[in-house]
Amino acid sequence: MVKLTIVYYSSTGNGTKMAQFAKEAAEKFGAEVRLRKVHELAPDMAIDSNPLWRQNVEATKDIPEATSEDLTWADALIFSSPSRFGVMASQMKQFLDLQGGPWSKGLFANKFVTAFTSAQNPHGGQEKVIESIYTVMQHWSAIVVSPGYINPATYAAGGNPYGTSATIGSDGEMLQAEEVRAAIHDQTVRLLEVAKKYVGE
Ligand SMILES: Cc1cc2nc3c(=O)[nH]c(=O)nc-3n(C[C@H](O)[C@H](O)[C@H](O)COP(=O)(O)O)c2cc1C
Repeated sequence: MVKLTIVYYSSTGNGTKMAQFAKEAAEKFGAEVRLRKVHELAPDMAIDSNPLWRQNVEATKDIPEATSEDLTWADALIFSSPSRFGVMASQMKQFLDLQGGPWSKGLFANKFVTAFTSAQNPHGGQEKVIESIYTVMQHWSAIVVSPGYINPATYAAGGNPYGTSATIGSDGEMLQAEEVRAAIHDQTVRLLEVAKKYVGE
């Protein structure tokens, strides 16, 4: 059975939704799945300035925080971060920056990896956020499995071949959520199929 860890950051809940879309697809595939959020770094003052942010913190309080062991345990990894001025959120970067120990022992080599993102604008840095994650993955000797253009759902969700990316409306709600869900399902299944060929049954 392929082991998958989904590591995500989300302030206002869209990234949480995307991570859950991946979890449902992976469970349907038959993978063993861990869903993990990264540690929040923002102060309460910032969180309380946005009701959606506080709501998401409360709604996800039972989701465990990601650890190095969650990464080394898995055969396949999914990372998801919203756009922060066109790069991944500092919370996700901090988590990645804490992985120097296992990285130096080569423990992330040959993990299969893919990534998602979201931004307020259709061109709010989605491709660059995903690339910023994949850059780290290449330093880890991980194997990036991007969706490319082999599944129609990718086109329907905006056509980002690097990884599914959502656009968030001015009310904070994800646009085309069903299309995003379908694209994440296909991206997750593709990752798991490739990983399964490597790790076996
Ligand atoms: C500090 C900060 C910087 C952001 N930068 C951008 C940006 O450059 N372009 C953009 O379209 N959206 C930007 N956003 C909007 C977020 O990407 C959007 O809120 C996020 O996709 C929502 O995801 P979440 O609900 O999972 O937190 C920014 C948000 C914050 C808080």
